[in-house]
Parts: sequence; C-alpha cells; structure tokens
Amino acid sequence: MSKLETPKQERIGNIPGFIQVDEPRDVSSDFKQKTEELIDRLGVTEYEADTFLQYVEMLNIGDIESLNNKTILDIGSGSGAFKKVLERMIFPRFFVNLDNASVDLWEGRMDVQGDVKQLPFKDESFDYILMHCSVPIMQATTANRPWDIPVSIGEAVRVLKPGGTIKIYPGFMDIASAARRVDGFFLKKYGRMNAEVLLALKQLHEQYPQLRIKLTAVHVREYSAEEGKDSLLEITK
Ligand SMILES: C[S@@+](CC[C@H](N)C(=O)[O-])C[C@H]1O[C@@H](n2cnc3c(N)ncnc32)[C@H](O)[C@@H]1O
Repeated sequence: MSKLETPKQERIGNIPGFIQVDEPRDVSSDFKQKTEELIDRLGVTEYEADTFLQYVEMLNIGDIESLNNKTILDIGSGSGAFKKVLERMIFPRFFVNLDNASVDLWEGRMDVQGDVKQLPFKDESFDYILMHCSVPIMQATTANRPWDIPVSIGEAVRVLKPGGTIKIYPGFMDIASAARRVDGFFLKKYGRMNAEVLLALKQLHEQYPQLRIKLTAVHVREYSAEEGKDSLLEITK
C-alpha cells in the first residue's frame, strides 16, 4: 500500500446503522455577489458577510427566519461574525458566542470565554447549537487533543433542549481525500478524529436512544468537488 492509501475500515463509508446517511450535498464557498449584497444591505464588513454565508451554506441553516425567537449557542465562535450578521436580520431569543481563546484574540467579541468540555450552562438550554470549523476538527488538529472530542460533543448534547438541533461542520473527514489535499500530513489526525467522533456518537446513542443522528457528505465545489469529502453532522434530541 502506498503512503497515501488508507485501510478501508478507516474510511467514512463504514458508518453504524443508527446514523442516517443522506445524499451528498454539492455546495459553493464562492459568495462574491451575495457578500456584496449583505455589505450594502446590513452595513457589515466583507469578512463578516463571508463568514455568515459560510455558516449558512456549510451548516445547511435553511430558512434564517426559523431562528427567530430561538436560543442559540455558537461553540468556537471565533470572531462572532455569524451572530453579528444574524442579529441584523432577525431576533433570536438569545444568542451566546462561546470560545476558549483569549478575549484579546477576538477583540472581546465572544460573550463567554469557556471550554466546550465544560459548558457553563444548565442542561437543556438551547434550541440550536452550531460548531463551524471548531469542534471536532480543532481538537484533532490544532489542539492535538482528539480524545477530548467525545466529552465535547457530549456537553453539547447535554445543553441541547429536547427537539433542538446541533450542527457540526466538518463532522467527519474522508481521510483518503483529505490526505491527498494536504499531502498526507493530516492523514493520521483526521483518522483519529473520525474514530473519536464515532466513539462519541456510540456513547450518545446509548445514553439518549431518542437522538437522531444524520451525516451528509459535503462537496465544496471550489476545493473538493472531485477529491475531497467533508461532512455535516446533525444531531437532533
Ligand atoms: C477556525 S476557528 C472558527 C471560528 C468560527 N466558528 C468561524 O467559523 O469563523 C476555531 C475556533 O474554535 C475555538 N476553539 C478551539 N477549541 C475550543 C474549545 N476547546 N472550546 C471552545 N472553543 C474552542 C478557537 O479558539 C477558534 O476561535
């Protein structure tokens, strides 16, 4: 086997039956025209508009109006751009940006500085929980702590209301194509990330048999239409 080939059992195809696998989605991350419209209409920056559109597309948010009057938590919110743009369009009941980075890094644009592994919220507090390019991928790569993934996803499920939804992108990586994309460097990390996400889901499936768990491969046209496969993971309580 060559260096970049991966054993079949590690690939995204081997998903247990309790996870619903949807048809792949083909999405774009090229939002030039929509970004300009948002800048004109809402007076936000290009970065904020682009980040907002990434969330909407990759997390498959659908109807923005459906977030009206809802309680929303953004875990690993970074610049907080999604909340800023959203609140110029609709009125969530409340929206909490949580990030563990220093306040200086994101110029204080998080509402709560905290760690996903120990969320400072009561059980069943939120209707929607968003994790965009934060958990699990940051724990598997930047933070180098993939073993934190099950407790992190478990915490999100704990603070989710019955009937609520968690949206995680990327939830899984197709490690063979990811490896081709980055020259093999992340092969091991993405493999471990997938294994830890799967472990999290198995534990949660036992603890909360009512959970609905859905995985959708996402082909991002600009960089992964042919070879890459990221996935949106959705958990409904
Ligand atoms: C790549 S940024 C994404 C930011 C934002 N979600 C976006 O898409 O623009 C990842 C963020 O996750 C945060 N993060 C990483 N590990 C975290 C943890 N254990 N708890 C809370 N936030 C974390 C980082 O500080 C960083 O701001």
